[in-house]
Amino acid sequence: MSRLLHISSSPRGSASESLQIAETFVDAYRHEQRDAEVETWDLWDGTLPAFGPPAAAAKMAVFGGVTPDGAQAAAWRAAEAAFARVDAADRLLFSVPMWNAGIPYILKQLIDVISQPGLVFGFDPERGYSGLLQGKKAAVVYTSAVYGPGRGLPFGADFQRPYFDDWLRWTAIDDVTSIEFRPDLATADADTGRRAAHAAARDAGKTF
Ligand SMILES: Cc1cc2nc3c(=O)[nH]c(=O)nc-3n(C[C@H](O)[C@H](O)[C@H](O)COP(=O)(O)O)c2cc1C
Repeated sequence: MSRLLHISSSPRGSASESLQIAETFVDAYRHEQRDAEVETWDLWDGTLPAFGPPAAAAKMAVFGGVTPDGAQAAAWRAAEAAFARVDAADRLLFSVPMWNAGIPYILKQLIDVISQPGLVFGFDPERGYSGLLQGKKAAVVYTSAVYGPGRGLPFGADFQRPYFDDWLRWTAIDDVTSIEFRPDLATADADTGRRAAHAAARDAGKTF
């Protein structure tokens, strides 16, 4: 049985474009996979641990082959628990608004918390990193309001999709479906792009 985890990083609730598109995706997925488990992790719900000095020290300790203790051990256990939530799903859906050309900081926080040696990645001094999340599929809903491909630098640059796509690839999740909604500013017609994004989400959800 498949388990789909929707990781949502917009704090805008019912006003959120990315969440609405993700809901269309999930509805289509549930319709096709009636026995699948579907869960949502709203990253703003307060359950994502901080990644501060003890967590960074714990990461470096583990990377160096040392077992963390004290506050570092507690931070390491919190990172393991957050990772376990993600790792329990074989299907991951991310809703990702563009924030200041990149991703919302709460999603970067998730990446910093769970990207740990022995959990998300392995490392070999000669061969470099190896992703440990083999066998998972991901779908990503990307939204922005000003940036769009081909609009030119005055409309911003894209460090959202290249960064997040690269993180997925780095974890070894290479089966990735992306849905973008970047409303057309020239015509001020957001509805056409919105409808297309929902249609793409419906199609992708059916076969996910
Ligand atoms: C804090 C913040 C920063 C944003 N930065 C950008 C940006 O750099 N470029 C852009 O095109 N849109 C930017 N936007 C607009 C959002 O990307 C856009 O409204 C998107 O649809 C939001 O997704 P959501 O509706 O799911 O929250 C920003 C919005 C917020 C709240």
